Amino acid sequence: MHMHKFEKIWLTFGIGCLVVFLTVVGVSAFYLGNKPASCLTTIDPEKVTQTKPFDKPGLHKVEGKEWDYELVFVASAFSYQPAQVEVPLGAKVKVIATTTDVVHGLEVAGTNINMMLEPGYINEYTTTFDKAGEYLIVCNEYCGTGHHLMFSKIEVVEK
Ligand code: CUA
Repeated sequence: MHMHKFEKIWLTFGIGCLVVFLTVVGVSAFYLGNKPASCLTTIDPEKVTQTKPFDKPGLHKVEGKEWDYELVFVASAFSYQPAQVEVPLGAKVKVIATTTDVVHGLEVAGTNINMMLEPGYINEYTTTFDKAGEYLIVCNEYCGTGHHLMFSKIEVVEK
């Protein structure tokens, strides 16, 4: 079979790219262990309120970790626990969240916290609140008739 020179170059380039991409993805996933954030942390969605740390939603000071506080949220149709929370300015906070019923969102407007909360899974994100003010938390996954009423607030205050 005769193959044009350009065809050969193009095929070599195409296959070469594929090999490079698969190598990069493979090394990242299997050697460096990269995976979607906390995709493997599961919880029994029926026992959320009895399971730590979701039995005590809100802000908790922690010692000996890379972050200063843990901010625990439980989402359910159509509210968040806690409904409002104060965070000290400059604190490094690990936000930990899950849902008790259907898929909800947890978006903290004006920050890059944006989680999809799925029943049975725990979502985490660590961030530093370095600007004082009020941050609105909204649900950005349609979850039912009360979806638009679902919100919470973070107040970042100087302490
Ligand atoms: Cu919860 Cu939309």
